[in-house]
Amino acid sequence: MKHKIGIIGFGTVGRGLTEILINKRDYLRRKYGYKFDIIAVADFKFGNVYNPKGLDVQHMLDMAQAGKKFTRDLVDWDNTRLIRKANATVWCELTFTDLQTGGPAIEHVITALEAGKHVVTSNKGPAALHYPRLKKLADKRGVEFMIEGTVVAGTPVINLATGPMAGCTINGIRGILNGTTNYMLTEMEKGMAYKDVLKIAQEKGYAEADPTGDVEGFDARAKVTILANIVMDAGIGIEEVSCEGITKITPADIEQARKQNKRWKLIGSVVRRGDRVEAFVKPEMIDLSHPLAGVMGATNALTFATDLLGDVTIVGPGAGKTETGFAILTDLLAIHRKRAQHKKSGRKA
Ligand SMILES: NC(=O)c1ccc[n+]([C@@H]2O[C@H](COP(=O)([O-])OP(=O)(O)OC[C@H]3O[C@@H](n4cnc5c(N)ncnc54)[C@H](OP(=O)(O)O)[C@@H]3O)[C@@H](O)[C@H]2O)c1
Repeated sequence: MKHKIGIIGFGTVGRGLTEILINKRDYLRRKYGYKFDIIAVADFKFGNVYNPKGLDVQHMLDMAQAGKKFTRDLVDWDNTRLIRKANATVWCELTFTDLQTGGPAIEHVITALEAGKHVVTSNKGPAALHYPRLKKLADKRGVEFMIEGTVVAGTPVINLATGPMAGCTINGIRGILNGTTNYMLTEMEKGMAYKDVLKIAQEKGYAEADPTGDVEGFDARAKVTILANIVMDAGIGIEEVSCEGITKITPADIEQARKQNKRWKLIGSVVRRGDRVEAFVKPEMIDLSHPLAGVMGATNALTFATDLLGDVTIVGPGAGKTETGFAILTDLLAIHRKRAQHKKSGRKA
């Protein structure tokens, strides 16, 4: 059976995913028996399109690349109607992140889950603000709500913790969860002033015109909240995660760290203390011998403290068109595998 994929948001990640799916179509079918059509796309800029037999996605990529609106298979349906009416089996929610309200992604996710469609997303809004509620809704409808791409893009941290490391008790997580600030701290260590580094980070496209979300630690806080709730069952809200960014780090602080054989990193932490789980984000001086200290530039990394394996550290890219598109693909394949298993055992998938 073919998976029918719908995409909401045809920006960097939406197009990255589409390119991977086109380029790997034969490989995915041969290796995993994964067959698909992309049947619907909703995008502010390019329009809403639907073809139940499959869209001409290469044409859509070409149009988007040229900055032109879609011309084929256009429908006069808003997102809600498209999500409800289209014959998608899975919706990929890839619109912008809003960490205040979660909207409009949250409405997209709820509409899809209520309609009995799987949802895969790299959008931190719904995952950080409403994960327990959305997972419950997904379970009730017998579908999946999958969010690997929300933390460290395609570097597999959520799936690693919940999959291959299942059976280990994870008692703590420490990580470099924001590439922009890690890049900035790396450059500041070379002697550059904060405001000069920020300017370069903006020119290179690492930092947004309004860098608040990165430099004040809010982006890392959203990821820490997601990890705390999914990996360590914390049941906490984002407002319970204390947060301090890198804006107060001075050249004198950097020199002080150097003298102690340490280096500043913006660290997101989740710690189990008895029955409670606490989570916070703050700059920390890390001993140079720790694996996180060697992670430089825009790279991300996470160390899980486990009972059976000791510390397990994973290092990898935390953003990017292909890297985040890949995260979505891993969740799509996970849904495919689950469905195949359910089919074998005769249960509803
Ligand atoms: N890029 C990365 O490396 C990365 C990594 C991890 C996670 N993420 C997350 O993944 C999501 C997608 O990121 P991105 O980089 O692809 O963003 P993007 O390039 O800004 O693309 C988002 C697309 O969604 C469209 N859009 C916005 N609101 C919409 C709506 N209500 N209905 C339909 N389309 C809508 C946008 O149109 P307009 O441009 O007209 O608004 C844009 O084309 C975000 O939540 C982001 O935080 C991204």
